[in-house]
Amino acid sequence: MSQLPPPEHVAIIMDGNSRWARERLLPRVMGHKAGIETIRRVAEAADRRGVRVLTLYAFSTENWSRPRDEVDALMNLFSETIRREVDELARRGIELRFSGRLHDLSTALQDQIRQANERTRVSARAILNIAINYGGRQEIVDAIRELARDGADLTQLDEASVADHLYTRGLPDPDLVIRTAGEMRLSNFLLWQAAYSEFYCTQTLWPDFAQADFDEALASYQRRIRRFGARPEEVSNRGR
Ligand code: IPE
Ligand code: IPE
Ligand code: MG
Repeated sequence: MSQLPPPEHVAIIMDGNSRWARERLLPRVMGHKAGIETIRRVAEAADRRGVRVLTLYAFSTENWSRPRDEVDALMNLFSETIRREVDELARRGIELRFSGRLHDLSTALQDQIRQANERTRVSARAILNIAINYGGRQEIVDAIRELARDGADLTQLDEASVADHLYTRGLPDPDLVIRTAGEMRLSNFLLWQAAYSEFYCTQTLWPDFAQADFDEALASYQRRIRRFGARPEEVSNRGR
């Protein structure tokens, strides 16, 4: 059986920042800072491998339950990082997009997010999609609310119209979902979109995740057989 082509869309649950910091007797925020460096590395690796969409789980709707100082530090880090990276992303033709319940973020961060997207989306060839204040269940509820508000006939609802109202509208479903730091759960990430995604889990903590780890995840993906419910002998394994 031939190999799958490289994935078009990779989504990553970036986990293990706090454990990384604890192992070094550092405050948690240092783990999150180190995690930002990994984002830069992995975004470059993804671009080099021809991955058109990279979605990163940065903050879940459940992460608000963390200590106030950690939440504040994370929000500050997001804001700082957007400010620092936006020009470079625009130069490289990478659109910075955000998926989540954005209207619950601070108005300053919302403004920044909107401006960063406007600045980077012109003539972009790839997308870096940050899942922030993201929850898969909330996303589905929000989609249905929006459909109802638009006057859609909910008795005729189909998959395409739900997909068109998700935060990720317009993006292909992820071909590959990676989770670092050993846990094997979705934690409310892309519940709808990951219906047929391939999974790759590694023990490596996110701040230690290197380009070689990313390449290994892709290689593992390319060796898989995607059946989408069909009989194995009828699968052409062309992926997307
Ligand atoms: C992931 O690292 C980052 C966020 C969830 C914001 P964690 O802070 O969850 O690190 P662990 O999983 O506790 O080690
Ligand atoms: C998932 O990690 C959320 C992000 C990576 C942003 P968590 O650390 O919040 O997930 P759980 O609590 O271990 O399931
Ligand atoms: Mg965690």
